[in-house]
Amino acid sequence: MTDRLAIFGNPVQHSKSPQIYHRFAEQAGIDLTYERIEAPLDGFHEAFMAFRASGARGGNITAPFKLDAYAASTKRMREAEIAGACNTYKFVGDDILVQNTDGIGLVNDIQQNLNVPLEGKRILILGAGGAVRGCLAPFLDQKPGTLTIANRTLSRADDLAARFAGFGKIEAVGLDGLDGRRFDVVLNATSAALSGQSLALPASIFREAVLAYDLNYGKGKTPFLKSAEANSSARLADGVGMLAEQAVEAFAWWYGTRPDSRAVIEMLTVPLV
Ligand code: ATR
Repeated sequence: MTDRLAIFGNPVQHSKSPQIYHRFAEQAGIDLTYERIEAPLDGFHEAFMAFRASGARGGNITAPFKLDAYAASTKRMREAEIAGACNTYKFVGDDILVQNTDGIGLVNDIQQNLNVPLEGKRILILGAGGAVRGCLAPFLDQKPGTLTIANRTLSRADDLAARFAGFGKIEAVGLDGLDGRRFDVVLNATSAALSGQSLALPASIFREAVLAYDLNYGKGKTPFLKSAEANSSARLADGVGMLAEQAVEAFAWWYGTRPDSRAVIEMLTVPLV
């Protein structure tokens, strides 16, 4: 029987998930269909329950429904529970299980694909939105030397640092508190580039960096990556590897088998020029 999976979002037409999971299914010899479902902004719960009633197996959740799906779940895996949000779900018997694979995907991309170990490193994350929240516990699990969250609105970074203080050494600063600070790994998790804005960042944060990573993907060299390039010899990366690796984790959670991410990374890579 063909498994039915879907990603819920609004908007969702841009999602690459169907391409990614169809490729993984081919590799694993699994018969599945994976669709995009654009639920109305005030109608996630009904759409989600209707999908479940159709005999579906599971799928993914993107903005703005990551909290709604979490609220609809009956069992939460550790990473989802800690983040308070989910990007992956499965229907098992009467249960709705949720997981958050974003952070594990990002960490695996950095350590395994880009060969940058995070243990002992000075890590800077720019931004304090949903994307960051899902990534903090997996980062702290790697025992970095320091993990700094810098955000335009300091109070949001403070809230995150307080929430995750029990998991490791974490500090919050405003974007204006970065002058003279140096880091080994710098990540951009802000949505500034989406609205065509660039961040005013001091050159010092890139000087000793070995990796500058933009969680946005498919946009070539963003202003953040250009700034890193101008001020350091850091390796530049966008979020295509994170996209592929979070999908590997989701697929492994559904089917107990880990697909190889390389073909998907190749298929979706937009050169950083
Ligand atoms: P997501 O869930 O994708 O992380 P979000 O919750 O809207 O999205 O968060 C967007 C992040 O980008 C926030 O950290 C936001 O900073 P504020 O908390 O101060 O709003 C940051 N951001 C967006 N535009 C920005 C800009 N022009 N300059 C600096 N930070 C920006």
